[in-house]
Amino acid sequence: MEIAKIHGGNSLHGTVHVSGSKNSSLAILAATLLTSEPCIIDNVPDVSDICVVLQLLQSVGACVEYVTRNKIKICAKHINNSLPEDLFIKTRGAISIAGAMLARLGEADIFMPGGCSIGSRPIDLHLAGFQKLGFNVSQKNNKISITSSKNHNKNIFLGSKSGSTVTGTINMIFASCGIPGNTTIDGAACEPEILDLCNFLEKIGVILHGAGTPTVTVSGMQTLNGCEHKVIGDRIEAGTFICASLITKGEIKITGCEQNMLGSTINFLNNAGANITESKDCIHVETCKQLNGVEAITLPYPGFATDVQAQVLTTLTQAHGQSEITEIIYPKRFGHVSELNKMGANIQVHGATALIPGNTPLTGTDVFASDLRASASLYLAGLVARGTTIVHELQHLDRGYDRFEQKLKLLGADIERTNQ
Ligand code: EPZ
Repeated sequence: MEIAKIHGGNSLHGTVHVSGSKNSSLAILAATLLTSEPCIIDNVPDVSDICVVLQLLQSVGACVEYVTRNKIKICAKHINNSLPEDLFIKTRGAISIAGAMLARLGEADIFMPGGCSIGSRPIDLHLAGFQKLGFNVSQKNNKISITSSKNHNKNIFLGSKSGSTVTGTINMIFASCGIPGNTTIDGAACEPEILDLCNFLEKIGVILHGAGTPTVTVSGMQTLNGCEHKVIGDRIEAGTFICASLITKGEIKITGCEQNMLGSTINFLNNAGANITESKDCIHVETCKQLNGVEAITLPYPGFATDVQAQVLTTLTQAHGQSEITEIIYPKRFGHVSELNKMGANIQVHGATALIPGNTPLTGTDVFASDLRASASLYLAGLVARGTTIVHELQHLDRGYDRFEQKLKLLGADIERTNQ
């Protein structure tokens, strides 16, 4: 098994270019099933979640060809309804394939996705949304069969107790592509990845209005073509590097992520004393001698993004004063806390709220990653800890970060990835 050895104490300096968005790539790769024409998708990160979805596309008959390491050609000329369960439950991103298959084939056999350490990952809103659109949904054991019916509804609401659902919105847009006439989805998610997906869909000929807003209208049954599309930068990776700069009191520039992609996350960090500015194609993180303790609640975009919660929480262990983070989206998304406490963070979790005392110098030790973003947060802790931190279970990190160690090393981190 591989481990990452991090010797703390170096401040990060320089410029880092983030990879393409994992979550946008997952949605757009699934969208290529909507058309029988070839699509070329560029700026796709080389991470394991992407590999799984590409295998799933191949399993239903699509041809997948790597033009370069990050540019992929997909041609779904003929597809069938044969998703393998073992692959399907490996990544949440697979769920979006259902909507694309419904639009193309009028049927989809999928499986209940596995949970993960950030909490349960229900799909009740997806299934309810398909039913509201007029599809028949039946479940036997872990298998869910969805079939088309003639009476399609033209207007559905998609909200949940914690806001909208990103992959649920994606699925409803896809399924609406196969329904004649206009279908309106209210309560749609507004994350930047949805807007990027809609830009791709319009390129292949989908007619839609309201992309990136809570109300999206899709005009279904269009003749669709192929296209070339470059995926937006990964805003969560950019947020991770912002935290890496802050926690090491360094100064870095981040390129490859469009402006305003992190919503209020940057404002929140600036309110804590950071000095982060954005220009058209660069995020500049100036040296910050001291962050102050703050309170934050994770929210759907443009709120404080749940996917940078672990990284920001880790950064706040070094702030001057107590911080409080409440995780609305995934109330159990604190798998990183126990490992940070082994390093001296002294964090307390009460329900969905973490209390971070701050002013807690960290000491390197063996830590074990539990999920994708927790992995990144343990790297950040290692960058500032006294001594050496060894991060285990790197398969979680490899799901969503492309060449993460190399990028940190280029910024001056003392890090190496080796076999145990
Ligand atoms: C997407 O997950 C992202 N994943 C997640 O990123 C991200 O954290 C999340 O959106 C929120 O921004 C991908 O895009 C592949 P949701 P998704 O459906 O769509 C509840 C990462 O680290 N809900 O928006 O699955 C759910 O429990 C990953 O890159 C239901 O109750 O998230 C949660 O509280 C982690 N029923 C909230 O909605 C449903 O049917 C948001 O979930 C669906 C969701």
